[in-house]
Amino acid sequence: TWTAANVVEEQVAAIRARIGTKRAICGLSGGVDSAVAAALVQKAIGDRLTCVYVDHGLMRKGESEQVEKDFVASTGVRLKVVDAEKRFLDALAGVSDPEEKRKIIGREFIRVFEQAASEIVAEAGQGDDAVEFLVQGTLYPDVVESGGGTGTANIKSHHNVGGLPEDLTFQLVEPLRKLFKDEVRMVGQELGLPDEIVHRQPFPGPGLGIRIVGEVTKERLDLLREADAIAREELTAAGLDRDIWQCPVVLLADVRSVGVQGDGRTYGHPIVLRPVSSEDAMTADWSRLPYDVLARISTRITNEVPDVNRVVLDVTSKPPGTIEWE
Ligand code: XMP
Repeated sequence: TWTAANVVEEQVAAIRARIGTKRAICGLSGGVDSAVAAALVQKAIGDRLTCVYVDHGLMRKGESEQVEKDFVASTGVRLKVVDAEKRFLDALAGVSDPEEKRKIIGREFIRVFEQAASEIVAEAGQGDDAVEFLVQGTLYPDVVESGGGTGTANIKSHHNVGGLPEDLTFQLVEPLRKLFKDEVRMVGQELGLPDEIVHRQPFPGPGLGIRIVGEVTKERLDLLREADAIAREELTAAGLDRDIWQCPVVLLADVRSVGVQGDGRTYGHPIVLRPVSSEDAMTADWSRLPYDVLARISTRITNEVPDVNRVVLDVTSKPPGTIEWE
C-alpha cells in the first residue's frame, strides 16, 4: 500500500545506494517539489548535499527571502545562493517564443549549477570528489507534459525535463518522478517540513519568464512582480490560498489598449488573472473567485502598477488552456 512513510523509506535507501559517499547539489526554486526532493536527499546523505538557489531575476517579490527563511530554518540545509539575473536576462533578450524561452532557461540553470558545483568542490578543499549528481523535484506530470510519458505529445518543455541541455554531465536524481503533487505534499509532511512549504502553491521554475507574453525585460518583470504581489496579497487576505491551486498573473506585454485614468488617455498593457482549481495540474478548472476580491485586485493593480490600464480574468479550463500561458 502507498504511504508517505514507505515512500520516504524506499527513496532514502535508493538515494543512499546510488549516491554513496559522493556529492550532490539540488536546485531550490522555493516551490514545494524541489524542497521535498532536497529534504529527502538530505535525509539520505546529509551534508554531502548542497542546495543551490538561483536568483534568475524571474522570481516573484519576496521569493528569495522566503527560501532562506523557511527552508534553511527548518532543515539546516547547506545553501548556496547565486545571483544570476544578468546572465538569464541577457540570454533571454529578444526572445518571445515560449519554447525557446523555456529551453534557454533550462540551459542557463544547468550552466549555473555546473559553476556552483565546481565552487562547492573548491570550497570543500583538496581531494574532494566532484559533484556528480543533480537533484531535481521533477514530478510525474512534468514528465508527461514534456512528452516523456508514453503516447503523449510534447505540450511544453518543463525546464527540468524537456528544457535540459543535451550536453548535461550531471546524473539526475529525481525521487519524486512517479508522484503527483498531493503525494509530494504528504511526503513533505512526513519529512517534517513546515506548512508554509508543504502547502505552498506551485510556482514554475522558469518563473515570471513564462508569464510575460512577449520579450522578457527587466522593466516588464518589475511591472509583473508588482501586479503579482498585489494579487497574492489580496487572495491571502481573503483567505483563499487553500481554495485555489495557484493563480498565475500574466503580463500581455505585446498588447496595448486604450484607457482613461486621472487626467486623460492611457495606452497601456493588460494583466491577466488566471486563478485555477485542480487536483494534480493535469486538468484544471478556472476558480470562481468572489467578485469583490476580483474587484479589489483589479482596482489596486490599475492604480498601483504603472503602464497597466486593464485587468482581465481568464475563464478557460485545462484543457483547452494550459495553466500557464506559455
Ligand atoms: P501547465 O501550464 O502545463 O502547468 O498547465 C502545469 C503545472 O506545472 C507548472 N509548470 C512548471 N513547473 N517548471 C516547473 O517547475 C516548468 O517548466 C513548468 N511549466 C509549468 C505550472 O505552474 C502548473 O502548476
